Amino acid sequence: AIPVIIDTDPGIDDVVAISAALFEETLDVKLISTVGGNVGITNTTRNAMNLVHFLRKDVKVAKGSEAPLLNPLVTASVVHGETGVGGYQFSEEAPINLLHKEHAVIAMKDVILSSEEPVTLIPIGPLTNIALLIKLFPEVKANLNKIVLMGGAAKGGNATSVAEFNIYVDPHAAKIVFDESIPIVMCGLDVTRQATITKDNIDTIRNLNKTGEMLSELLTFYGDSSSSRFEYAVHDMCTIIYITHPEIFETKNADVTVVTEGPASGCTVTKFTEDGHVKVCLNADAEAFRKKVIHSISKAL
Ligand code: BDR
Ligand code: CA
Repeated sequence: AIPVIIDTDPGIDDVVAISAALFEETLDVKLISTVGGNVGITNTTRNAMNLVHFLRKDVKVAKGSEAPLLNPLVTASVVHGETGVGGYQFSEEAPINLLHKEHAVIAMKDVILSSEEPVTLIPIGPLTNIALLIKLFPEVKANLNKIVLMGGAAKGGNATSVAEFNIYVDPHAAKIVFDESIPIVMCGLDVTRQATITKDNIDTIRNLNKTGEMLSELLTFYGDSSSSRFEYAVHDMCTIIYITHPEIFETKNADVTVVTEGPASGCTVTKFTEDGHVKVCLNADAEAFRKKVIHSISKAL
């Protein structure tokens, strides 16, 4: 199985992605690290821990950065609710021993340096922790396979007309990450707005198992602006399905420059070029994606 670290700000679509990843036999989730984003770090960490506990997994959750490198934290509680998981209440609070003793950046470094196989990073929140990791411990780069992230867009935005939320929240961190030569797969709005799940899919998911029931409840609170009454953009889930089923995505190589200041801050300026180190997901087979999502959740408890 592929060793992975999920860096996350749960967040309703984060919960969907983590739930699927933890039951995917081709993935070995070594660590879940948290970051302030959709809501503050206390809530994102608590949500990640409660979720892992709910799913009866023993993956550690490491608490990471509270705020972006330079900018003040901007949250998306309108989309995800004040606590980050809508009005949903996990029936039990996770035991404190699920929490890693170290800061997320240290925990990530330790996992990467001790892994026999190169680790894949899956950032599905602002890139604050990832930028710190690369800057503080550049030696990790030699044991990274790639970064498959949710963030950015070749065209458009959701936080502003030109910036996607995860990049917008911490553009300086994003710039650090994109400026490295590490291979990156960018699952941005170009593809996450196509690879949606439908209302009918949610009904199917609800009846799959206990996890499906929980996810369908969360999704009823989800106020994502690219979702409609009939379709839900579960952005972060694209990273997981990309890793397990890359064949349903169409990508193009590019160089990506992140704008860090001014009115276009957070914009991922995408220049397509054969030798670019970023694979930008541009299209996805939405029907195939939906089937994979359902199949993936069907394997949960
Ligand atoms: C991204 O922003 C967050 O609100 C979601 O969890 C996702 O990671 C979509 O722009
Ligand atoms: Ca997220």
